[in-house]
Amino acid sequence: MGQKFQAPKGVAEYTPPDSIEFLAVRNALAGAAQRAGYSYLELPIFEDTALYVRGVGESTDVVSKEMYTFDDRGGRSLTLRPEGTAGVVRSVVEHSLDRAGLPVKLWYAGPFFRAERPQHGRYRQFNQVGLEALGSSDPALDAEVIAVAVEGFAALGLTGYRLLLNSLGDTASRLEYRDVLTTFLATLDLDEATQARAQQNPLRVLDDKRASVQAQLVDAPLMADVLSAESREHHDAVRGYLRDLGIVWEDAPRLVRGLDYYTRTTFEFVHDGLGAQSAIGGGGRYDGLMAELGGQELPGIGFGLGVDRTLLACRAEGLAVGQTSRCDVFLIAMGDVAKTRIMTAAASLRAASVRTDIAFDGRSLKGSMRAADKSGAKLVAIVGEAEVEADTVNIKNLVTSDQVSVPTGDLVQEIQEMLNT
Ligand code: HAM
Repeated sequence: MGQKFQAPKGVAEYTPPDSIEFLAVRNALAGAAQRAGYSYLELPIFEDTALYVRGVGESTDVVSKEMYTFDDRGGRSLTLRPEGTAGVVRSVVEHSLDRAGLPVKLWYAGPFFRAERPQHGRYRQFNQVGLEALGSSDPALDAEVIAVAVEGFAALGLTGYRLLLNSLGDTASRLEYRDVLTTFLATLDLDEATQARAQQNPLRVLDDKRASVQAQLVDAPLMADVLSAESREHHDAVRGYLRDLGIVWEDAPRLVRGLDYYTRTTFEFVHDGLGAQSAIGGGGRYDGLMAELGGQELPGIGFGLGVDRTLLACRAEGLAVGQTSRCDVFLIAMGDVAKTRIMTAAASLRAASVRTDIAFDGRSLKGSMRAADKSGAKLVAIVGEAEVEADTVNIKNLVTSDQVSVPTGDLVQEIQEMLNT
């Protein structure tokens, strides 16, 4: 007896037909980025651990508690990527992508890893479609990034989400805010670990999910109170563009994101049909990250959209996503000569971009028809002894039950016509 295995705990795994829906969601989100002039970047799944410590921030939950870190055989510390932005910026600096004209606009997709407690919508291996634009401070770019996400969701028919928007200010206003917040936090009744955190990175405390902490934060000073004139102007301009685009948002003065690199514009998309893990995507500006990671001082902005959660949101809204049939035509042969015929026919149909599958293992006509039904094909093409003799193919429309016999040479054209009607 062989040993049976299970996938590791908390990974998002998709088998058909769920996997087809998953791909459709990923493609819809990525399609919006491609249509807005973002070029594809294929990034490594693991990077130097220090990249994340430096880029994402040591005091974040992501870096301090959730990274999958290991030593490789050469003793280097590597980490499975918990997010995409640090890797993109590393790649832009390493390959001088910022020399080719600004802004540099890039998108990426794939698995990310965080050792979180698994629950509905929260996985240890999950998937994002993300994009980053480096080298422009134009508030129109902030609005574009948000609009691309909105278009991706719209392509799926998704409507039940809200866009939360905030500004975290520039470095100067952040420092000022930090001081005000630290003074405020010192007056609260917090446990030792949280007090230490308040000293190290007070903004993180605002992100604390515990009700006992949140209750004490009701009167916390807001970033909006100390925003510099420049940050405020930028934020107003972003909101102006969003208004012009007809994108509805909610001002969320308490929105702090879980990663340390954010400056100025920050946003999150939350879906109310998902329960606790309601964020289907988020992002913002990170104007200091490029310089922090050894590049020239260029501003940046981007988003990461959760493919897994967006799929759950589509389901919560009862939306059908993706094409769940595996093929359009199913070919059945009765006998060896016929088998060769259908193999050739399948090759011609596939070359003409018709999704085609065939019956294997010489099953009975009845068994093969059952397989055809299961495949979701609209048409079945059968070659038996009589058809071999007459050099024809018998095509049956499974939707209307109509049948026609066509010369083998006309098969591809006939099938294309029948699929288009
Ligand atoms: P993030 O908010 O950490 O941002 O993640 C983006 C999205 O990934 C979340 O809104 C959520 O949909 C999904 N996600 C995160 N963790 C999990 C999980 N454990 N299970 C399922 N889905 C999850 C970032 O990662 C930034 N890099 C986004 C960004 C790009 N900011 C600027 N540029």
